[in-house]
Amino acid sequence: PVTQTLKEKAKFKIGAAVKMKDLQGEVSYKNAVLKHYNQISAEFEMKMASIWTSSTASNYTAADYLVNFAKDNNMEVHGHTLVWYNSFPDWFKNAKYDSITYEAKVKVYITDVVTRYKGKVKSWDVVNEVFADGGALRDENVIKPVFKDPIGFYGRCFRYARAADPDAKLFYNDYSVVIDAGKRAAIKKMVTRFKANGVPIDGVGDQFHYATDTNRQTMKTGFTDLASTGLLIHISELDIKVNTAKSDTYVFNDVENQKQAETYKYITTMYEELPQNQKFAITTWGVTDKYTWLTSFWHSKEYPLLLDADYNKKPAYQGFLDGLK
Ligand code: G3I
Repeated sequence: PVTQTLKEKAKFKIGAAVKMKDLQGEVSYKNAVLKHYNQISAEFEMKMASIWTSSTASNYTAADYLVNFAKDNNMEVHGHTLVWYNSFPDWFKNAKYDSITYEAKVKVYITDVVTRYKGKVKSWDVVNEVFADGGALRDENVIKPVFKDPIGFYGRCFRYARAADPDAKLFYNDYSVVIDAGKRAAIKKMVTRFKANGVPIDGVGDQFHYATDTNRQTMKTGFTDLASTGLLIHISELDIKVNTAKSDTYVFNDVENQKQAETYKYITTMYEELPQNQKFAITTWGVTDKYTWLTSFWHSKEYPLLLDADYNKKPAYQGFLDGLK
């Protein structure tokens, strides 16, 4: 039989991080998104820095484009991300607001954005990456210094999003969650506090920026522990690095392709072991190796996704499929 696509076989959403300029600029890119995926995340267009252009104005052009693209093509949108220390706009940071004014403005931002996309964006990363490796609060200088109790502020951000759209699924998102026991313990402690205080949280995302050499037993132990929260589990930014030594002479040969395929299969097999009511989506952070963020962040010789630079399915694509029930 003709091989099924990812979205045809999966019993949960298959997402991809996309960029407006690639959807507009390259028909092969757009066709690949439509063929293989049924959900999109904005790689950066739905972050504060892109929307919140000044204290008196917002620019929704790019976010609207992506939300309309999804609507026109019967796809879902996962909103990434409302509050992230790394995407606060410069004008806001330079204002050095006191905590009351700071939170009042963030509340208006969250309310405006979530209201605008109510019923169109069905899930949000309300808060992204607040913990450092090991589980201490991340020592960033944008949010943490403003509040005596940053976790309390994050909980109120969830309440603001819920108030704007009672039907949206609200997520906390972070990286290395299943492989960093300290960070995972901190996340679980925050979830327990949120639930005890009636903070509306529905899910948790582990970005899953892992590699062919990421320890699989560690991954599995952590994944099972994360699932014990009972929340929706989102593998939210999946890509699997292959050039683990960051070698300038790395060759992505058949052996390397096979290692990557087996890693993807391991991960989708693991995800399928979740109770059905905790399955949400697996999102790859990008569509094609050609545009992966990792060639600048990690190494130019990096091939982490399911489609190669020519949009052909790699062994990793089949590995992803093989893990699906
Ligand atoms: O394309 C615009 C250009 O038009 C504009 O003039 C220029 C100046 O602002 O920005 C360009 O956009 C860049 C964008 O990537 C597209 O390439 C932004 O500068 C740059 O900041 C942005 O980086 C994104 C990064 O998050 C920061 O938002 C990456 O694409 C994106 O892959 C990365 O994704 C993050 C997740 O949100 C959170 N988890 C980690 C992940 C990887 O860092």
